[in-house]
Amino acid sequence: MHISVIGCGYLGAVHATCMAELGHDVVGIDVDAGKVDLLNSGKAPFHEPGFDELLARQVSGGRLRFSTDYADVRDAQVHFIAVGTPQSEEGYAADMTYVDAAVAGLIPHLVEHPDGPTLVVGKSTVPVGTAARLAAQVGGSPAHLVWNPEFLREGFAVQDTLTPDRIIYGLPGDPDAAEASGAVLDAVYTSMLAAGIPRLTADYATAELVKVAANSFLATKISFINAMAELCEATGADVTVLAEAIGHDDRIGPKFLRAGVGFGGGCLPKDIRAFMARAGELGVDQALTFLREVDTINTRRRTAAVELAHRLLGGTFSGKRVAVLGAAFKPDSDDMRNSPALDIANAIAGQGARVIITDPAAGPKLAKSRPDMDVAADAFEAAKDADLVLLLTEWRQFRDLDPAELREVVASPQIIDGRNVLDPAAWRAAGWTYHGVGRP
Ligand code: UGA
Repeated sequence: MHISVIGCGYLGAVHATCMAELGHDVVGIDVDAGKVDLLNSGKAPFHEPGFDELLARQVSGGRLRFSTDYADVRDAQVHFIAVGTPQSEEGYAADMTYVDAAVAGLIPHLVEHPDGPTLVVGKSTVPVGTAARLAAQVGGSPAHLVWNPEFLREGFAVQDTLTPDRIIYGLPGDPDAAEASGAVLDAVYTSMLAAGIPRLTADYATAELVKVAANSFLATKISFINAMAELCEATGADVTVLAEAIGHDDRIGPKFLRAGVGFGGGCLPKDIRAFMARAGELGVDQALTFLREVDTINTRRRTAAVELAHRLLGGTFSGKRVAVLGAAFKPDSDDMRNSPALDIANAIAGQGARVIITDPAAGPKLAKSRPDMDVAADAFEAAKDADLVLLLTEWRQFRDLDPAELREVVASPQIIDGRNVLDPAAWRAAGWTYHGVGRP
């Protein structure tokens, strides 16, 4: 099938490439000419395991290309909208500028397709009600609108796109349009559906809500365990054992119960805020008041890490050298949007310490975008002469550090393990003062 993908960021570039991998002929559209050139040369504009190889293969194989010109979508029967919906500058609501621009750019190019109905398929995470609004705009064209949210995790983007836990279609209210649209999308995902991936159909609002409900639940789970970590800190209990023990209950499950410096990234933080803002507009803000607490618990973990660092340094940051291991919001990614690690590093530097930060993937990007920051090549360079080390993104390189070797280079062997990934006994045995999150 001929497919277009509007927006070639994390979501769009991976989706376009995976659609080509499924055998479709794909064009990705983005306003950023530099990004389009890079993608056309088979290179990923971000770090994502397994993505570069797939992208290079599909581009050189001829089934995938990228363009800045909307007119290049002309052959496509299915047009995916995959642009970002960041938090708006003014408040908690999502900034819909890019979605609105994508749909406006696409509408003049929507034409009848010989193989059946033309589809505009929303993948971006949007406030509930957006699909209905956009369907009215698309209504004058020969296309139907479907909402088909994406659930990929950074670091697992290819795997999550090709083998998602489920696929959901938010279909038009008119039964004929719904049936015809569902059939076209089934054809796009034929091989995935044949592999048994569950597919659910719903109205627009339900499909939109599924996405934000899932992210809200995940954020709640993380903040829940971080709240338990606070209780553990007050009582000398161990949150890692607590999480393992409650996780054995099938109804709770062990995943997303890792206490630490909390959730960040371009999705969970802004999605729960946009959800609260939308609930307010709908007059049901009380239903989501708990998300405010989820957000507060999450940001409190960042402040707590800064306060602990301050205490360990004898009540002053000034004149101190602090090594920060990790800048990305999670390992296997170079994404620093709303990163707890970067936030904590900035706060400590802002209070007078000399912060040396390192990250296997985000480091070079950080050095370019923040010339004011000291970016080291690896953990040993960062920790040289440090008065304190903070591990804030759990890269394998940091998890595997040898405490005895690292001790050789620091000025003072104290470490804050902000992700609870080090073995406290081994680090203490090597002479370190070890502080985890919610564990003795
Ligand atoms: C998240 C969701 O997991 C995806 O399903 C969703 O599609 C995506 O947002 C999106 O909306 O696009 P992602 O932001 O890539 O994916 O990252 P997660 O793996 O969810 O991690 C989010 C943050 O939570 C990270 O900072 C991570 O370190 C933190 N986290 C995760 C914890 O602090 N504890 C945990 O137990 C798990």
